[in-house]
Amino acid sequence: MITSDTQSVRSLSRFRRTPALRALRRETFLSPSDFIQPLFIVEDPQHAGPISSLPGVSRLALTELDGAIDQIVAAGIRGVLLFGIPAAKDDDGLHAAAPDGIIPRAVRIIKVRDPGLAVMTDVCLCQYTSHGHCGILDSDHNINERTLDVLARIACAHAAAGSDVVAPSGMLDGSVARIRASLDSAGYNITAVLSYAVKYASAFYGPFREAARSSPGFGDRRSHQLDPANAREAQAEATQDLAEGADAVIVKPAGPSLDIIAHLRLALPTAHIAAYQVSGEYAMIAAAAERGWIDERAAIMESLITIKRAGAGMIITYSAIRAARWATEEWGTRP
Ligand code: PBG
Repeated sequence: MITSDTQSVRSLSRFRRTPALRALRRETFLSPSDFIQPLFIVEDPQHAGPISSLPGVSRLALTELDGAIDQIVAAGIRGVLLFGIPAAKDDDGLHAAAPDGIIPRAVRIIKVRDPGLAVMTDVCLCQYTSHGHCGILDSDHNINERTLDVLARIACAHAAAGSDVVAPSGMLDGSVARIRASLDSAGYNITAVLSYAVKYASAFYGPFREAARSSPGFGDRRSHQLDPANAREAQAEATQDLAEGADAVIVKPAGPSLDIIAHLRLALPTAHIAAYQVSGEYAMIAAAAERGWIDERAAIMESLITIKRAGAGMIITYSAIRAARWATEEWGTRP
């Protein structure tokens, strides 16, 4: 603080002078219950193991799930988001809807281990199709209408296994309405829909595609994901998915979209907004930290608290376990 004799100088830093004053003034806190831990679960145990572009994150075999869940729960985290990696892929990704597929099996294991943990499941075809696109393709390589039926069947298979929340991540028009209607008519009206309403076509998903073995074999996802240059379209997408019955909407990638999170927080005051700190955001911090160029703990916590400051109520992050521990160290638990 620069001291001045002039009485009229307004200082904004008096409340930053001591740790106590800073604590009293702090507007935003993190706690373990802010975080959702993504998990990659493989059907073929040979695909399990560390993911080189996501240091500290592994693909898990079903036999490793109990141990992982224990660690997550011990850190105070209340939710997980599951991505399945099937042993075999085909053109239509049909395995995704199998009642005994990798995700239904994982959900059942988790619900036995810890019935209180919120289990959320990704509903998309890109890990299951041989071409890596998020739907069934017609001869012109456009995603076809039949995809919506498959997504609805996937959601019902997950709900039947005990998933609390299904998360359609493909940004396909009409998918929320179709999934909601199918869940309701099958009797799963308690299953919530967390929609990836605002998903930008982003370069920051690169490491995820390695982790989930889901890179498109040709083309890209710009025909259905949002253009990062656009903001008004984000509000239109979120509004539409909420109208179709989404219980909450995801914005991603979180860090590059803080303006969008903050805008939606104000524009849609009653909406539940989640933010996904995606693989590339995690990888950038991890890579810089490995080189000693950045303080990893401080960078992770700063990135997460700014996502919360922007207005996200839930944060999906690969740093969930460590961030939950650090948040507890700094501020205790506030469930
Ligand atoms: C697939 C999906 C992607 C992510 C979540 N679900 C990748 C994509 O759209 O290509 C990205 C998450 C991350 O990068 O951590 N529908």
